[in-house]
Amino acid sequence: MKKPLVEFRQVEKKYFMDGVTVKALREVSFQIFPAEIVTIVGPSGSGKSTLLHLLGLLDKPTRGEIFFNGKATSRFDDYRLARFRNQTIGFVFQQFNLLPRTSVLENVLLPVWYHPSLEFSSATKKARELLKEFGLGERLNHFPNQLSGGEQQRTAIARALICDPQIILADEPTGNLDSKTGQEIIKLLLQLNKKWGKTLVIVTHDNQLAQVGDHRLYLKDGKIIKEKRK
Ligand SMILES: Nc1ncnc2c1ncn2[C@@H]1O[C@H](COP(=O)(O)OP(=O)(O)OP(=O)(O)O)[C@@H](O)[C@H]1O
Ligand SMILES: [Mg+2]
Repeated sequence: MKKPLVEFRQVEKKYFMDGVTVKALREVSFQIFPAEIVTIVGPSGSGKSTLLHLLGLLDKPTRGEIFFNGKATSRFDDYRLARFRNQTIGFVFQQFNLLPRTSVLENVLLPVWYHPSLEFSSATKKARELLKEFGLGERLNHFPNQLSGGEQQRTAIARALICDPQIILADEPTGNLDSKTGQEIIKLLLQLNKKWGKTLVIVTHDNQLAQVGDHRLYLKDGKIIKEKRK
């Protein structure tokens, strides 16, 4: 039997602010298997970004456990967490999050600085190839503000791929794009799954986009209210 790549076991996340407690996730349990396409849908405030942050090991649950390849991540120290994130997880954000005064090529290479063993020369070659494949071969030395939204997002996707992660997490990756450009970005993300077997997790509030998932999680008030597999 296939083993899960990720498992959430009764994960709870509370935020504490100015004496107010917000329960953003309540006893969330699910598994993600290698090469799955997972979509997470739910209304604003239902906990989608919180879930993705925890999944990306950018934040810690207040209760429960998150396992990667069967290993309890609460046991990882900060150094191991940072290293694990860098080598295993790629992030794509709604706002692209590219560094403004840094070229397209250098933006893609940023994660390589934190990687313990990737060689810069081979990573540069790979970055060029990826950008060429994504239609940005002529834009390597341009700055993000010289690119369209779709081009910026494709740059961000190349950056997410440079360290060859197992899983790519995308939070509303089409949220800042018109619908046609958004569809192209989704097509590109799906290709990463088909071609390289990357596990994909896409957060969206768009029910139609959620249909691309072969595994769908529906969130409401911090809880999974429905889970479907194709
Ligand atoms: N850093 C934080 N501090 C306090 N409360 C927070 C924080 N981040 C999120 N929350 C709260 O947790 C709940 C879930 O937020 P989250 O951002 O995960 O929702 P979401 O489903 O991603 O919403 P959206 O569709 O608007 O992006 C909300 O009530 C939100 O106000
Ligand atoms: Mg969100």
